[in-house]
Amino acid sequence: MARKDPSGNHGKANAQPRLHQKAAEIQAYGTVNHALPLDLDEPVRLEMTERLNQLLADSMTLRDLYKKSHWQVAGPTFYQLHLLFDKHFAEQVEIVDTIAERIQLLGGISIAMAADVAETTRIERPPRGREEVPVQISRLLDAHQVIISDRRDLAERATKVGDAGTNDLVVSDVLRTNELQVWFLSEHLVNVPLVEADEPVYKPAKTA
Ligand SMILES: [Fe+2]
Repeated sequence: MARKDPSGNHGKANAQPRLHQKAAEIQAYGTVNHALPLDLDEPVRLEMTERLNQLLADSMTLRDLYKKSHWQVAGPTFYQLHLLFDKHFAEQVEIVDTIAERIQLLGGISIAMAADVAETTRIERPPRGREEVPVQISRLLDAHQVIISDRRDLAERATKVGDAGTNDLVVSDVLRTNELQVWFLSEHLVNVPLVEADEPVYKPAKTA
């Protein structure tokens, strides 16, 4: 049956934008397209897209945690952390896009909206308010740990089921970037003096 045209144009060209259009979804979340010539069986693509969506939700949460930290940081290290947090944010933006597009190319549906991310992520929700720098950094490190801990397993599983592309993404893009960011953050939690050194242990050699 032909669809009713609410504009009354009956398919004829018209300059009036067709606003407020609605229709059923063309693909349900949690399913994969059948016809993609990827040489990867449907069960493999279903499993990989499901696990990649978990990784995506966690990475989107970490991305947003970096922006929150970028905005709310305070104290003597404000400027360097303000810049560092934004650099890591931008790197997570890249990761998020890469994961989401891999899910789509595998025939799946990427999680996209904040409410769905909030329901899916395993990263603890931070308070709306402002926290001290050591707490901000600890929170970011905990979030990285959530991502890193189960990604090694995902990388191995991807190889086992023949999805080398997902393995490469998880190792080269996600794992390596997260490891580097962990290092940059962790060094800020080393308690070294800023101006005056601790008691010197150096003793000058006695001259005969
Ligand atoms: Fe900014």
